[in-house]
Amino acid sequence: MSDLLETVAGLVAPGTGILAADESVATMSRRLVRAGVDATPANRRDYRALLLTTPGLGQWISGIIFCDETLGQSLVDGTPFPFAARERGIQPGIKVDTGVSPLPFTDGVTVTEGLDGLRDRLERFRAQGATFAKWRAVFNARVCATAGGRSAKDSGRRGIRANAHGLARYAALCQEAGLVPVVEPEVVMDGDHHISVCERATANVLAQVFAELDLMGVDARAIVLKPNMVVPGTQSEAPVLAAEVARRTLKTLRAHVPPAVPAIAFLSGGQRNDQACANLRAINELAAEEAAPWRLTFSFGRALVDDALATWRGDPDATAAAQAALAANCARAAAAHRYTPEPSPAVRP
Ligand code: 13P
Repeated sequence: MSDLLETVAGLVAPGTGILAADESVATMSRRLVRAGVDATPANRRDYRALLLTTPGLGQWISGIIFCDETLGQSLVDGTPFPFAARERGIQPGIKVDTGVSPLPFTDGVTVTEGLDGLRDRLERFRAQGATFAKWRAVFNARVCATAGGRSAKDSGRRGIRANAHGLARYAALCQEAGLVPVVEPEVVMDGDHHISVCERATANVLAQVFAELDLMGVDARAIVLKPNMVVPGTQSEAPVLAAEVARRTLKTLRAHVPPAVPAIAFLSGGQRNDQACANLRAINELAAEEAAPWRLTFSFGRALVDDALATWRGDPDATAAAQAALAANCARAAAAHRYTPEPSPAVRP
């Protein structure tokens, strides 16, 4: 257990966050093609290498999440990605879920897969140098906001139960294998729903996730929770200030996340960098006022990397400019979360 606590302490070191660069081969390929880049293994490697070798990245980034393909690739000088990350003071992590499939007898609800053979895969990933892992479960806001009580059998309830169970089984296997699980239940922003719908859905999801984690024997001190912020749907017309995002997010977290959890690293979920950072800053300011028990940092994907990909577009001459765009986004996110709970999460019993 002490190794896991040490890993967590490194991942949540003050002023740093986690870079999610773990798009699956299919998702990364789509994003490359959209940016005018051929979707080849070499181009996926070059893009991830561009991100990782950004000068000074380790100032702001404590951990980087790769997908299976990248974990096994090397920089052009032959250094394997996990070693190259460590050389920069960044812990290498690995996305271990294998994506979603439809859950039977529901109205379009999915369940995240990947438990089959996971114990063996975790052993391999650890041997390759990973110190932490990630599993993402996806939830629709409207469906989950109205999920019924414990005995209800609606689609939302089924999706929440199945996905929370998967997250907990994954987290337990990670801790058994000596890897810190990043537990990612994401209520997605798609839709025109009001922020209150996201709030109810997030509450329903987190309540079940922590019940399952507890049931499966997961040590809350050795996880990082990676939730969505409580925000309105992307097609919602009602503008929302960062202060409201902060108020609703912290209220929901306080109700459902045990104080023993050391850190909460938010995903960006499709928010632009400026939006995500403004919300993260407001959440941290309110957390300081309320003396919240967790460090509240970021594990952004798109909000950090989108500008770099749009700048690079596969052009080697644009590498430095793309890295500068990534550095600026990381620096902004790092500056947005200065709150440190007392006592420090690393020493909490
Ligand atoms: P976004 O920040 O782009 O939502 O990505 C985070 C992530 O890891 C999704 O699984």
